[in-house]
Amino acid sequence: MKQPHYILGIESSCDDTAAAVIAHNKVLSNCIANQKIHEQYGGVVPELASRAHQSNIVPVVDQAIHEAGITADQLTAIAYTQGPGLLGSLLVGSSFAKSMALALDIPLIAVNHMQAHLLVHFIEQEDLRAPDFPFIGVTLSGGHTQLVLVKDYFDMELLGTTLDDAIGEAFDKCGKVMGLSYPSGPAIDRLAKEGNPQAFSFPIPNVPHYDVSYSGLKTAFVNFLHKNTQQQADFVTKHQKDLCASLQFTLIEVIMQKIAQVVAATQIKRVVIGGGVSANSEIRRVLAEKKRTDDWDVYIPPFAYTTDNAAMIGIVGALKYTQNQFGSLDAVSDPRLKF
Ligand code: KG4
Ligand code: ZN
Repeated sequence: MKQPHYILGIESSCDDTAAAVIAHNKVLSNCIANQKIHEQYGGVVPELASRAHQSNIVPVVDQAIHEAGITADQLTAIAYTQGPGLLGSLLVGSSFAKSMALALDIPLIAVNHMQAHLLVHFIEQEDLRAPDFPFIGVTLSGGHTQLVLVKDYFDMELLGTTLDDAIGEAFDKCGKVMGLSYPSGPAIDRLAKEGNPQAFSFPIPNVPHYDVSYSGLKTAFVNFLHKNTQQQADFVTKHQKDLCASLQFTLIEVIMQKIAQVVAATQIKRVVIGGGVSANSEIRRVLAEKKRTDDWDVYIPPFAYTTDNAAMIGIVGALKYTQNQFGSLDAVSDPRLKF
């Protein structure tokens, strides 16, 4: 089938309402409405997220179409996030996408959010390089931490995952106990730059196979703060930068050890990362180091495509369109959608 012209991507799996237009695998627009409302609760409140998606979706889609310099009737297909994510949030995006596809009489394409975090590397853009298959995909987000053997665009095998908290969740929860606002991953990243990663040491869990665990580390960190603040009330403020650097070092070490294990076992040195935590400057530095020392071929997305965005949904829409993988109006949103 010939290349699609204009694919509208809609992302609404968590707390960001996003829309983008893709043409010939290039991004024409990439719009996002962040939901600030969750900051005051220190985490995403699902009911509030669904309500905010309802208010945001029309203006964000409208803006994406406008910024792409087209009109809605020029769209070829609509791609939307089917899962995984929060059900109420997913339903807003899917209902909107289905209604719009029906009204315009164009195909609908259902997208797996976790596949999209990895396939974002297939966007054609100057600062992006598309990896060859097979590669080791590593998704690092607020809801997931996965090691994936990617044999083809839509042939992905989950090798390992977190048994409890996701890496981003661990950043956010540990940040919360240090009094940082949600999501605290970016603040920890910033503060860690001026801290000593060896100042404090936290345990690396011993988890079999390619799985990881972050809840023990989080608990150890919380207990450590609790113990020290009892002796010194301003312990956290006094040592904030060192705490951030040491915590970040350990969170990254956990996943790096597993990536290295997978690379050694599969002999696939092509490592592709995606998801919000792939914006972290330390993981980017450590991976770049692996490129030099161990000859890994590393793919790191530009910042705009790390945290949740609709360009990644749009590119998957474009790839699926060329493979005739269309969705249907009776497709069910799935909070636990697998590969
Ligand atoms: O992929 P994403 O936008 O949403 C989910 O699908 O979960 O990831 C959000 C996560 C949050 O936990 C946030 O703290 C984390 O990504 N994050 C970071 C950084 N930027 C975002 N974590 C560490 N360092 C960063 N620079
Ligand atoms: Zn995500």
